[in-house]
Amino acid sequence: MSPLCSGNGFISSLYFTFFSRDFYYEHRAILMAQRAYKKNRGVHGNSSALLRRNIHRLEKGLIMRPRRDVFALDYLLETVLVYKDVFSNKGFSQCELAWAESVFEKYFSVVNRSHPDIAYAYKVYVQITPNNHEPIKEKIPYLQANKAKHTVSYNQLMDLCLARRSNRWFLNKPIEDEKVTQAVAAALQAPSACNRQPYEFYKIESQPLLSQLVKLPGGTAGFAENIPCLMAVVGDLSYYPEARDRHVIYIDGSLASMQFMLALETLDLASCPINWPELHTLDKRVSKLLGLPEYKRVVMFIAVGYPDDSGHIAYSEKKLPEDVIKRL
Ligand SMILES: Cc1cc2nc3c(=O)[nH]c(=O)nc-3n(C[C@H](O)[C@H](O)[C@H](O)COP(=O)(O)O)c2cc1C
Repeated sequence: MSPLCSGNGFISSLYFTFFSRDFYYEHRAILMAQRAYKKNRGVHGNSSALLRRNIHRLEKGLIMRPRRDVFALDYLLETVLVYKDVFSNKGFSQCELAWAESVFEKYFSVVNRSHPDIAYAYKVYVQITPNNHEPIKEKIPYLQANKAKHTVSYNQLMDLCLARRSNRWFLNKPIEDEKVTQAVAAALQAPSACNRQPYEFYKIESQPLLSQLVKLPGGTAGFAENIPCLMAVVGDLSYYPEARDRHVIYIDGSLASMQFMLALETLDLASCPINWPELHTLDKRVSKLLGLPEYKRVVMFIAVGYPDDSGHIAYSEKKLPEDVIKRL
């Protein structure tokens, strides 16, 4: 039946409406995410997806060559208003506020403030920040020449990549919170669409939750009981007002996960990414165990632990660069 329905989009949709429930949970999750986005006006706890995205857009405007003296009109007021919204929110991220303020200061100092839209946005903006406000550390675009330097050679990076292998046998030893914090700090340096970083890392190590969770993904069969710590990388679909961005949590979450796993390797810890299939029955169970609303989705699980050197690692032959590079 399913190959016959692939002829066009409409018939495919009919198939997934009447004959398959594969998208059942996901469709609802996306609509609930849009509702949550609207209700929270793009604010998520101590962070705002809308503020992050728009401040990022302002930064991109600031680095244009040549820079225009009027730009960002279509989202400027929206950005100032969301900034105003979160400014008085006591628990809001101070880093995020400082970044926003810094970029606003730069923006308003270089654009043509006699433009009526900019003049109005500026009037609203200056009423938000109190006069006795401490000057903040500048968090604005900087010269590429001043970018952080590194001492990692290609060979060193390659060594790290070769040393990171999916490890399925671990010692029965707890994982220090500090090491996870260090690895997550590296993960957070990963690129993300419009710098929104729409994910969270859940560390699961207490019983019975760990035992209940490790058995859910089919891919842990045979070694589930051996996992001392499971990380759940959870993406938040409510960072996006539009369904077209529904895959971004998986892209951003995966980029961060890769950096997380490489960082673990440098901290003497081993890991194994664990597939989380799109099965609505399993999604319900995992959401209940982790206490997630429908719009927060598991991107992947990652088993973490100190490696048991007496266990084996699958050889996992890799493709060659020439197999995957298509030169056009
Ligand atoms: C998204 C993803 C899902 C994976 N799921 C599982 C899984 O469920 N169970 C498992 O044992 N390994 C899983 N792996 C590990 C892969 O089998 C492994 O990465 C691959 O064989 C290459 O080996 P390497 O990681 O040692 O380089 C997964 C890897 C990725 C990236």
